[in-house]
Amino acid sequence: MLRGRTIVLGVSGGIAAYKACELVRALRAKGAAVIVVMSPAAGEFVTPLSLQTLSGNPVVQGMWGDQNPGFALGNKSRAKIRGKVEHIDLAEAADVMAIAPATANLMARMVHGEAPDALSATALACRAPLVICPAMDAGMWRHEATQANVRTLRNRGARFVDPESGPLASGLDGLGRLAAIDTIVEAIEAALVRRTSLKGVRVLVGAGRTEEPLDPVRVLTNRSSGRMGYAIAEAARDRGAEVTLVTGPASIDAPEGVSLKRVTTAAEMEQALVSAAPRANIIVMAAAVADYRPARASREKLKRGDGALTLVLEPTTDILATLGSRKRRGQVVVGFALETSRGLEHARSKRVAKHADMIVLNSPAEGLGGDTNRVTLIEERVEQRLPVLPKREVAERLLDRVMVLLAKQAGAGAVASAKPRAAAKPRAKKEMR
Ligand code: CTP
Repeated sequence: MLRGRTIVLGVSGGIAAYKACELVRALRAKGAAVIVVMSPAAGEFVTPLSLQTLSGNPVVQGMWGDQNPGFALGNKSRAKIRGKVEHIDLAEAADVMAIAPATANLMARMVHGEAPDALSATALACRAPLVICPAMDAGMWRHEATQANVRTLRNRGARFVDPESGPLASGLDGLGRLAAIDTIVEAIEAALVRRTSLKGVRVLVGAGRTEEPLDPVRVLTNRSSGRMGYAIAEAARDRGAEVTLVTGPASIDAPEGVSLKRVTTAAEMEQALVSAAPRANIIVMAAAVADYRPARASREKLKRGDGALTLVLEPTTDILATLGSRKRRGQVVVGFALETSRGLEHARSKRVAKHADMIVLNSPAEGLGGDTNRVTLIEERVEQRLPVLPKREVAERLLDRVMVLLAKQAGAGAVASAKPRAAAKPRAKKEMR
């Protein structure tokens, strides 16, 4: 797994920095090329010469590379180190960037995108999977500022190897020791698996909410933030997939590096998804689509009257059911279900009714708007209840399962029926007061 790969190892200034020597050894023993980037303070705890000798590569400490003779990279690295602007070249060369130990200070800088030194600049420029291994005093680790920073970095896709409990440099006992070297190596290997796991796969994601116009200034919409769908698009992108994101309005910026199609209404979303679906290997429908739209949008702004206002609503198309009914051989279709009661029961029937391979059950209390979600992944034979997790981690777990389904479909492809299923039934009109 690590053979021929380039691991950029960031070492920041804490007492555990000396353990980076052991980590470099373990990575090299598995065939990885290792380039160490040190923060200015790390040199107080471990000498660059030790890390240079063990890694067989110059250690990067400064922002500009004139003084360095060149680097030995893994043979699967896509980039060449040109030796002038090292933090950019290193960021490109990395198959994985690991930071061990990561101090509270470094994580705080990373959260804010600050890049005053080679290590934080490399972390900022790096698009490879990031594995962060914090080590610090127990009080600093528990502090809400540190925990908030950890949450932010997790949400951006970083994988954490949490510190362990034991005697600390302060003389106290507690949570804060750098995790065991084997655990860190395993996390780096797992990050590599995820990185390439969807290479050559086309993923179509529906995300955000829809807005259905009532008149020129008013819309019917819902509270979805788009975060869950965006996290899925990002996670798929980071695994090497070619991602198309069809998004309604959302509360956050759309991810980079995906093919983006913006829509507003359910009808526009339907059109965009239906036309992109035939090319997709995986379809994830995380959008909060309006089930009903005003039967007639007024061209003029509706005026306040004396009595009650009656709105006549007509059903929109169930897009997921349409995509599910047209599912082609080998395609995996995933939908969501937002339920306020009898969640499992409703979600299971939605999976069958909409011909989805998986339904992700979430509840408005946990999932709507925030950074975390608690979901149950419901497949035909397997159901997995996950704990409360950052949405990015939910996305990763979901994709892990989708890959199992994709592999199964590929195996069953030869015998699968290509017969189209019954199309989605239109719903009756509903009156709302
Ligand atoms: N969905 C869709 N088109 C719609 C409504 C929903 O594609 N017009 C999709 C959602 O994106 C989600 C799944 O269907 O993947 C379930 O959405 P949900 O709102 O939980 O359920 P509904 O099917 O709308 O049913 P209900 O509101 O009655 O629970």
